[in-house]
Amino acid sequence: MAQQRHERPIGVFDSGVGGLSVLRALRAELPHERFVYLADSAHAPYGERGDAYVAARTHAITRYLRERHHIKALVVACNTATAAAIHEVRGSHPDLPLVGLEPALKPALAATRTGHVGVIGTRGTLTSAKFARLLASLDGHVRFTVQPCDGLAHAIERSVAQPVDAKETETEALCERYIHAMGAFGTGPGQIDTLVLGCTHYVFVEPELRALVGPDVYFMETGEPVARQTRRLLEGAGLLNTSPPDGAMPIRLLTTGPVQMLTAAAQRWLELPAGCCASVSAPNLEVKLASSA
Ligand code: DGL
Repeated sequence: MAQQRHERPIGVFDSGVGGLSVLRALRAELPHERFVYLADSAHAPYGERGDAYVAARTHAITRYLRERHHIKALVVACNTATAAAIHEVRGSHPDLPLVGLEPALKPALAATRTGHVGVIGTRGTLTSAKFARLLASLDGHVRFTVQPCDGLAHAIERSVAQPVDAKETETEALCERYIHAMGAFGTGPGQIDTLVLGCTHYVFVEPELRALVGPDVYFMETGEPVARQTRRLLEGAGLLNTSPPDGAMPIRLLTTGPVQMLTAAAQRWLELPAGCCASVSAPNLEVKLASSA
């Protein structure tokens, strides 16, 4: 029997394993849905690549997930890809329910008591026009200290494949460098009391960040609000799956990079078996940038 539209999977993608933090929240909010997750690890990190490259990858992956996996909706679980391409993807796929991510500045505004909010993210996200507009819309309400963290997402990506007891010294060193560059954290006057995690990879170094900023600082991430927004969107479109999916595996994790890395991340962070994971050569559409023609 042909699959009904509401029974189709939700597509979720990121430059790598970071979006698994969003998938974790989606799974909790939408336990009856099927998911197909694509980690574009062969092309990660996106954050230091430039908009044209990231937009080309985002378009290629959207097409691939629609054509090969017949997704009913797409969650772009990547702040950098959202900033570079969500607007265009919406234009090219007007019939596809689409959810993007942006750093949680508005919730941070509501949470801060000292009036000083820190924001960490990729260079791509934090230098984007979309982020500039968001910041400008909140201008004057609180002070924002914005810190691009070059190399951190890539280090997190690499650390997944290392044994846990190999202590993730590279990620720790980068967290330390960037947090120290932002100034004093705490609840005293003028201190940063709220930290926005503006990259989905950073959720996986929360313990390292917590050790640096102290116990009283609020962390703002986007997984749960995005999962709730996805539910609203599916409900509105009549696409919510209300009964448990039967038959085939409800979660498939695909990567354009080494499958061992995805398997390790899936087991470590989502407690999913290796059998859910596979590597794909598609979408292998070459990214052709005008400047490289
Ligand atoms: N996880 C991604 C984000 O939320 C991007 C990390 C990267 O590839 O640089 O922005």
